[in-house]
Amino acid sequence: MMDWTDRHCRYFHRLMTARAMLYTEMVTSAAIVHGPKARLLDYSTAEHPVALQLGGSDPAELAAAVRIARDWRYDEINLNVGCPSDRVQSGCFGAVLMERPALVADCVAAMRDESPVPVTVKCRIGVDDQDPETVLPDFIDRVSAAGVSHFVIHARKAWLQGLSPKENREIPPLDYDLVLRMKASFPHLTICINGGITSLAQARGLLERGLDGVMIGRAAYHEPGNVLIGADALWGDAPGRDAFAVVEAMRPDIADHLAEGGRLHQITRHMLGLFHGKPGARGWRRVLSEGASRDGAGLDLIDRALAEVTQAAEAVRAG
Ligand SMILES: Cc1cc2nc3c(=O)[nH]c(=O)nc-3n(C[C@H](O)[C@H](O)[C@H](O)COP(=O)(O)O)c2cc1C
Repeated sequence: MMDWTDRHCRYFHRLMTARAMLYTEMVTSAAIVHGPKARLLDYSTAEHPVALQLGGSDPAELAAAVRIARDWRYDEINLNVGCPSDRVQSGCFGAVLMERPALVADCVAAMRDESPVPVTVKCRIGVDDQDPETVLPDFIDRVSAAGVSHFVIHARKAWLQGLSPKENREIPPLDYDLVLRMKASFPHLTICINGGITSLAQARGLLERGLDGVMIGRAAYHEPGNVLIGADALWGDAPGRDAFAVVEAMRPDIADHLAEGGRLHQITRHMLGLFHGKPGARGWRRVLSEGASRDGAGLDLIDRALAEVTQAAEAVRAG
């Protein structure tokens, strides 16, 4: 998620689930071809399995970006056909490409030619006044004919005029049934759903209705402890670390980051919601958000924030 997630966030999330695929924020093909490649593409091997999400609409440039990214050994390359921000529309990529399925097919065909790993597509159900009932199956038909067998569908339209990107994640209504019908129409394809999923119980319900996967964005970011700890149970695996063990496991990564001159806040900003809904969650969030961007903030701040949680838990136990 652009401006929210980064490699520190993915490293943190991976400590809570071994199985879930993690996605990078969208990186444009132009940035990879012309920009600072290592800064855009470096990540920790601990993050696997991890998908690189690309934005673009020029088949040759997307292919060049995939060729460059090959050395980084991502597990999947995903093309973003769902992002509605102005910046993205002006470059003619993201959700506006729902209107140009033939171009998307050319893009993914060119990407596949360069990619040793699966090329997947994240899309909306349509844009503006398109009729999703006809547009979405046509889009899937054409893009799958170009060799994509895995779609992540954000189950709402993007309205490209008049709504901000934030509103475009909230206002156009969700249509899960349409995505379920796509799975029924294309049973040989991997169809994953996205949009408005806030709990593992909800994710499980959608998987039980036949979908192949569930992508969770905002809830995983805001409540990582609730959404990601226990996610491996969806694959039948036991949950891994609890939230306290996650904090301990973050310490070496944080220490390395600080030693390289990084600031505490750059990592702890992703951890603010770890104890969401638990006693002491507010204190944890407050101590970190007030202190972590101060000069010299270090691991002792994490101790202070953790003390808020342990003291609150003791208070609850003591009744
Ligand atoms: C701050 C922010 C940045 C986002 N950036 C991306 C992005 O880079 N690529 C993408 O495919 N979706 C992006 N999204 C959309 C989410 O991936 C997701 O499709 C959307 O939030 C709906 O799912 P959710 O209800 O689970 O959050 C972003 C969402 C937010 C809130």
